[in-house]
Amino acid sequence: MAVDLLLGLQWGDEGKGKIVDVLTKDYDIIARFQGGPNAGHTLEFDGIKHVLHTIPSGIFHKTAMNVVGNGVVIDPVIFKKELDALGKFNIDFKSKLLISRKAHLILPTHRLLDAASEASKGKAKIGSTLKGIGPTYMDKTGRNGMRIGDLELSDWKEKYRSLADKHEAMISFYNVDIQYDLPELETAFFEAVEELKQLTFIDSEEYLYQAQKEGKKILAEGAQGSLLDIDFGTYPFVTSSNTTAAGACTGLGVAPNQIGGVFGIFKAYTTRVGSGPFPTELFDADGETMGRVGNEFGATTGRPRRCGWLDLVALKYAVRVNGVTELMMMKGDVLSGFPKLKVCTAYQYKGETITHLPYNIEPENVTPIYTEMDGWDKDLTKMRSPEEFPEALNNYINYLEKELEVPIKIVSVGPDRTQTILR
Ligand code: IMP
Repeated sequence: MAVDLLLGLQWGDEGKGKIVDVLTKDYDIIARFQGGPNAGHTLEFDGIKHVLHTIPSGIFHKTAMNVVGNGVVIDPVIFKKELDALGKFNIDFKSKLLISRKAHLILPTHRLLDAASEASKGKAKIGSTLKGIGPTYMDKTGRNGMRIGDLELSDWKEKYRSLADKHEAMISFYNVDIQYDLPELETAFFEAVEELKQLTFIDSEEYLYQAQKEGKKILAEGAQGSLLDIDFGTYPFVTSSNTTAAGACTGLGVAPNQIGGVFGIFKAYTTRVGSGPFPTELFDADGETMGRVGNEFGATTGRPRRCGWLDLVALKYAVRVNGVTELMMMKGDVLSGFPKLKVCTAYQYKGETITHLPYNIEPENVTPIYTEMDGWDKDLTKMRSPEEFPEALNNYINYLEKELEVPIKIVSVGPDRTQTILR
C-alpha cells in the first residue's frame, strides 16, 4: 500500500493541519516527517480551535495512529505543553502517539543558540521562530545530536551535559546579550523528558514498513512549505529541513517507490512570515485586507504574516519539485470582494522575462509580471458544493489548473472542517 504525502507549496501556513484533519478518516496512520515546534497546524471543529506543533493532525480521530518520524525534532518542554493542552480531549497518548527513537531532541541550549545566532545577524536575521530548529539540525548533521532513543540509556544525562556545556561555550562566542537562567530551563526540560518517557518510542521505519505490508493506509504530513526547504527554498531564509516530497522518504524511512499521491496545498494568494524575498508581496490596502480577512498571524509566534498575490512562477516550481498529483486551494473566501485579482505569471529578471524561479529572487533582481482576472463579491463561507461557486471563482480555479497542469480537488472556504468543498 502506497504512502500519500501532504505538503505545503508556498512559505508555510497553507492550512495543512485542516486538510490532514479532513482526510484522516481515510487513513490508518498519520506521520510527521520533518520540522518541529516551529510548525503550527491549526484545526477547527465543533466550534473549537486547536493548534498542534509537533503532534500529527490525526490525533483527534478515534481510529488513526499518529507517528512522529525520525526526521522530526522534538522539544520535550513544548511537547509536554502540547500534551497538557490536549488533556480535555481524553486521548490515550500511550497507544495513539508513537515516537521514532531516531528523532532528535531540541535542548534548552539549542533554543538559546538560535536566539544568539539571530541576534548576531542584525538586519540579516532569518526571522526564525527561535524554537532551536536550526541548531538542532546542525547537531544532527554534525553528528553530535541527542536522539529520543538516547533517553532509554542510563547515561543520557552525561551526554546531555557535555552537549549543553559545548553549547554554552558557543553562545558566549556569539558575543551578544542573551539573558538566560540555564538551571531553571533545565529543571523544566528534565521534568518534560520524564513525561515524554511515558510515551511509546518505536523504530518507526520498521513500524511503517510492517504497516504498509499489512495494507494500512498512511498519510505523511509535511510542515512548513516548499519555499522554506533547506535545498529548494529561498536560502538562507528557509528552515533547516527538507520540506519537499523527498523529505518524507528520509524523514520516515519510506522508499521513493512507495510514495503514492502527492497532495499539494496552496492558498489562493500568498503569505510569508519571517524575513526573505517575496516578489508578489503587497504593501498597500489589498495586502492589508488579505491579512485582516484571512486572519494572517503566525500560529506559533503570533507574528503578522506578509501577504501578496498568488505567485504562479513559484507555485509551478513547487509543483514540479514535489511531483504533486492533486492540488488543494485554501482560503478562497478571503479573496471575495476584490474587484480584480492578480496572478504573477512571469518575472522581469535582469532585463529578461522569465517563467522559472531563478537562483536569486531578491526584490532588486525580480519584478513580478501579472495577469489580471475578474474577482467575485459573493461570500463563499456558507457554500458547500462547487455548483454554488460564482463564475469568476470557477474561472480563477480553471485558469490555475490549466497553468499548473494538476487538478484542484479541494477548495477550502473557511477554517471549519465543514467548509471544505470537493471537486
Ligand atoms: P525556523 O525554522 O524556526 O528557524 O524559521 C526559519 C524560517 O522559516 C523563518 O522565516 C520562519 O518564519 C519560517 N517558518 C518556520 N516554520 C514555519 C511554519 O510552520 N510556517 C511558516 N513559516 C515558518
